[in-house]
Parts: sequence; structure tokens; C-alpha cells
Amino acid sequence: MTTSSRERLIAAAREAREHACAKYSGFRVGAALEDAKGRIFAGVNVESSSYGLTCCAERTALFSALTAGSRAFQAIAVVTDTARLTPPCGACRQVLWDYCGDVEVLLANLAGQTEVHSLAELLPHAFDEDNLR
Ligand code: THU
Repeated sequence: MTTSSRERLIAAAREAREHACAKYSGFRVGAALEDAKGRIFAGVNVESSSYGLTCCAERTALFSALTAGSRAFQAIAVVTDTARLTPPCGACRQVLWDYCGDVEVLLANLAGQTEVHSLAELLPHAFDEDNLR
């Protein structure tokens, strides 16, 4: 991805974060997933009083993209307001791998710090459909 397309994706995640539903943890997360056609799908964490039902921002973005028919992806951005940037949790890494493959994972905070990783780097020796054969 180009620097400007990365910046655009991070900006979308940052904007989405404003709508995070994080009333139990107070930990607001915004995500934005870009498909192969350049379409961007945003997501936020949506928490439940039954904590385990919470959906992370990354999966919210992914499910929105899948619902719209996207099936090929370039990158996902994750934005939080923390000095230590927030990588996707293990569950999200797995589901992202299942549907997006080895996409770029852009991490950013409100102070403007950024990191770029690959999903393969974050989920080495992944389990996936090849293991089902
Ligand atoms: N969360 C995300 O949305 N994405 C992450 O990458 C890490 C965690 C959410 C889940 C929960 O609503 C809150 O952050 C605290 O774990």
C-alpha cells in the first residue's frame, strides 16, 4: 500500500473509534478494513453486559465487509488511544487469517504513532482450511 492509502485507512479507523461501544471497559477501538477494490469498511468494539459476547472492532469491520460481498482484502488499521499500540487479539487474528489471508496490519494511536505488520508475522504457524484436508 502507498503511504497515502495507509493514512486514509488509519483516518477511517480513527473516525470509527468515536462510535465505539465500550461502556464496560472504556477501551475504545476503531478498525478499518480495505478490500481489493479500495472499499473501506469500518468497525468498532461492541461490548455486552455479558462480557464474553463482546465483538472486537476488527471482527466488526470484517463482518461488515463480508456482508457487503467483499472477499479479497489489502489491509486493516486498528486505532486506540494508548501509548502502546494495540494489535488484534488472538481470536481476531484467526478470523482475519481465515478471510483476508496475509494482509497488512496497521496499528496507530491518537498521538500519530504507527506500526506496520503483516498478519503472517502476528499469527505464525496459523491453523486454517489447509489443516482440514
Ligand atoms: N478489543 C478490540 O476491539 N480489539 C483489539 O484488538 C483488542 C481488544 C476490545 C474488546 C473489548 O471491548 C476491549 O477492547 C477491551 O478488551
